[in-house]
Amino acid sequence: MEAPVNDPVEPPSQLLSGDHRELDRKFEEFQATPISRSDERRERFDEFAAELHRHIVVEERLLFPPFGEGDSSRRLLVELMLDEHRRIEDVLQRVRERLAAGPRSTEDLESELVNVLWAHNTREEESVYPWFDAHLPVDLVRAVDRELHEPGTKSPGPW
Ligand SMILES: [Fe+2]
Ligand SMILES: [Fe+2]
Repeated sequence: MEAPVNDPVEPPSQLLSGDHRELDRKFEEFQATPISRSDERRERFDEFAAELHRHIVVEERLLFPPFGEGDSSRRLLVELMLDEHRRIEDVLQRVRERLAAGPRSTEDLESELVNVLWAHNTREEESVYPWFDAHLPVDLVRAVDRELHEPGTKSPGPW
């Protein structure tokens, strides 16, 4: 359903950085769960990984295409971020596989994930998200907001 015209829109940098913080919180909940509670640990990890995947899909589908369009240095940055997304998804998959194999430590993989995710999120917040505040049309910001916060929604494209 279309939002009313005068509905206030949060700047995209806040929306997306806020989602990074929410993901950090979910990951910390997973880390705080003892290895002995393996079912709960798997559930928390799956919830975190599903939310992170959703964030990545929104960035790749709605945000990176306009960012990379018509500028070679921004396009290079998009390639770098896509590569980081693949590395992130790869670590998520390896954690999933280890958790499925039984109650065991994932500390080494957690460190790997934190390293790549921290560098990636910092790059986006410093070098990419400010551009969105200045250039994204309001309808696109609303679509991003919806897709980040309402499971199962998918806005009609193309943008
Ligand atoms: Fe990203
Ligand atoms: Fe992000």
